[in-house]
Amino acid sequence: MHRSGEVYMAIHGEIIPPPDKSISHRAFILGALAKGVTTVRNALESEDIKNTRSALSTLGVDIQKEGNIYRVQGSQVKEPLQVIDAGNSGTTARLMCGILAGLDGITTITGDRSLVQRPMARVIKPLELMGARFMARKGGYLPMAVKGGNLRGIFHPMEVASAQVKSAMLLAGLHAEGQTTVNEPSPSRDHTERMLGYFGAVLSLSSKSATIIGGQKLEARDITVPGDPSSAAFPVVWAATVPGSEILVHDVCLNTTRTGYLAVLKRMGAQIETVNVQDRAGEPVGDLVVHGSELKGTTITGDEIPTLIDEIPILVVAAALATGTTVITNAKELRVKETDRIVAMVKGLSQLGVQVEELDDGLIVKGPARLSSGNISTFSDHRIAMSFYILSKASDIDIQLDDRKCVDISYPAFFEDMVKLI
Ligand code: S3P
Repeated sequence: MHRSGEVYMAIHGEIIPPPDKSISHRAFILGALAKGVTTVRNALESEDIKNTRSALSTLGVDIQKEGNIYRVQGSQVKEPLQVIDAGNSGTTARLMCGILAGLDGITTITGDRSLVQRPMARVIKPLELMGARFMARKGGYLPMAVKGGNLRGIFHPMEVASAQVKSAMLLAGLHAEGQTTVNEPSPSRDHTERMLGYFGAVLSLSSKSATIIGGQKLEARDITVPGDPSSAAFPVVWAATVPGSEILVHDVCLNTTRTGYLAVLKRMGAQIETVNVQDRAGEPVGDLVVHGSELKGTTITGDEIPTLIDEIPILVVAAALATGTTVITNAKELRVKETDRIVAMVKGLSQLGVQVEELDDGLIVKGPARLSSGNISTFSDHRIAMSFYILSKASDIDIQLDDRKCVDISYPAFFEDMVKLI
């Protein structure tokens, strides 16, 4: 249990991570578009998903909760009377744009202080080519108005790998005349493609492209959402970096477009085993057994980036605790997440005494760090807050977060769950 000559407390226990955020969004959205009543079990109860449900309600969709099962009455989407507020959720805003582009009517959509600064041109441009019209703030930012209807399919080569843009295009493509193809530079998460297939749509897929023919009808389905690998990443990194630790993480989505961080941690020397893998509604799901060990630095770049884009803050924490240099490049997308995550991590780590260098498209971290206590600005970004909390626990230093409440975006029970592992 030694790192740089110091002793750290190993953790033990079992954890059920919160339900997957990306899959929860899509279950409500596809349920709203399908014919019949879709049931969603184990949906994530978090701020982002609340925003998707309330956006759908604004569009006239009836969603009822009985016990912990949601029933979504499909095929009710109509021109709304109120503004849609996507809150902090980029997935809500961008996937909604795909629906609104195909809806005969005018909708206005906005978001919170963070979301109104995040780029929407990436969905506006291709959806305009399909025939939708947008009036957005200069540069392509929320709030904006969308006039939908009369779409035609297009071929869209995306400049950056983005599951949100790809999903918006496929949702619009469902309501377009002819064929819509999206092509991405590297494969991003494919939950929309999988779930469209599960709801009965036919898509033609290759590793970097997806094609849908418009006019297909979706059929209501029953969905049970698996655990979120992005939320599981926090206890996984904690256990993996503290020798003597052993944890079991139950029921995690193991879709390889999401598990790039497990491959990186293993390359760094982590002992992680995947067990009990099964298929659930088109997604592989299983348990993770993690043992702690001493990690070493690595390089993270290229096609691997979209498969771990949300886990980079916590991988940077693993890098700070590892021996050697970790270089992360090709990750410029981090600058347009809930906050600029390159700036947030570099600023916080430097304050704690970690050797870190900011790059235009990533960062370089030298470990193992001799950390000092400090106050950290989370920029109200859930993943920044959770990453620094894990750094404080794994290295036994006192870190004060300026905003703990922001974890409600994806993992409301985060602090209680983590305390149980000590
Ligand atoms: C998401 C896609 C990713 C990811 C985000 C959730 C999704 O964003 O960072 O947290 O559910 O489709 P991009 O598609 O913008 O890369």
